[in-house]
Amino acid sequence: MQKLYVVMVGLPARGKSTLAKRICAGLCEEGFPTKIFNNGELRRSLLGPTSTPADFYDPANEEPRLAREYIAKRNMDRARGWLAQEGMVAILDATNASSARRKLITNTLTDYPILFVECVNEDHILQQICIERKTTLPEFEGYSKEDALASFMERIRYYESIYEPLSSEKYWLKVDSTANKILEEHALDGSPYYSVVRQTLVDFKAHRLFLARHGQTEYNVEARIGGDPHLTAKGQAQAEALAASLKNEPLDWVFTSTRIRSHETAAPVLRDRPNVQTLAIPEFDELWAGDCEGMRYAEISEKMPEVTRLRNADKFNYCYPNGESYAMLSDRVKRGLRRVLFLAGDKPLLIIGHQAINRVLISLFLRYRDADVPYIFIPQSEYYFMSMSIRRKLFERIPYSAKK
Ligand code: F6P
Repeated sequence: MQKLYVVMVGLPARGKSTLAKRICAGLCEEGFPTKIFNNGELRRSLLGPTSTPADFYDPANEEPRLAREYIAKRNMDRARGWLAQEGMVAILDATNASSARRKLITNTLTDYPILFVECVNEDHILQQICIERKTTLPEFEGYSKEDALASFMERIRYYESIYEPLSSEKYWLKVDSTANKILEEHALDGSPYYSVVRQTLVDFKAHRLFLARHGQTEYNVEARIGGDPHLTAKGQAQAEALAASLKNEPLDWVFTSTRIRSHETAAPVLRDRPNVQTLAIPEFDELWAGDCEGMRYAEISEKMPEVTRLRNADKFNYCYPNGESYAMLSDRVKRGLRRVLFLAGDKPLLIIGHQAINRVLISLFLRYRDADVPYIFIPQSEYYFMSMSIRRKLFERIPYSAKK
């Protein structure tokens, strides 16, 4: 049977390894034995910290340039060896930034087709997080955070100086790695792997996602909407119960909105988890009710009956005066979800959202009809757990507090 090389392309910290892992998991799940060959890992194991300084990446610096080429060739050999045995797909994960390097690959790996996957990432917040993450690698041990950052940025500039986007290669996909979007493609028609690769790149996929709503707030008690209220005593007890219920669940990331109630709910979960990373995502802030922010539902019906009437008639599309509709919310929640799934990769994550936000998030995974989205049940005493891959979708609602 025909086999395949997948060759990642892109500047450092653009999401190549994240996508390589996703592609690998998708292909393995479809029954195609797949393995990643990462040049960075091989370089670190062979050369250690001597390959950390930025000038190691200066294209004019002949000796390190040859060392990097040697590593690329070693990994090509390993990949070919894997395909000569049981492997069906070999993924070469490296910058492969210049067309000269890609020609070397094309001229060396002649036994099976090569699919190049170029990753771009214009999300500057995520880029920054990826760069900061790189500076925590063991290769930067002994560097201060600032020095590591400066050195890595210089490394990126060297790569930028030789970077040439894909164009003359035969089969390729250009992907916005954080938007799950294919920007351009030269398809490898007829290949059993191509559609799987493509699908893994565009799907929302959550390996282990916990989704909770913040605990009860003062506004909830009064049936007021929006605002930035604190949790009530009951809400704090719910937050403690959520933390207790998740106690044995490993979590790598906790994402909140920027609102106080979301942070206060996250606090007990984070208390005993010093290594969990946390980030407030503005896209997860509750539906903005515009002129109705802070009002009670009953008050809106009384003072602005049109709002209630029109909203009841078409809750998904109804836009509050100077505010938002669910339809509008959908776009920004999608953006936020892409961000968090990109950051978490295949690691478990918790999102602490809001009623409308969680409705939209659930609908993105479970494909609800638009009209039903604003009515999805979002309790403050249960969380949702989702685990999904190409073939399997697990979706559970788990109670964490006995009393509502
Ligand atoms: O009532 C709590 C709340 O989170 C409000 O802040 C928000 O406006 C509302 O839920 C969204 O739910 P619905 O669309 O059902 O009014």
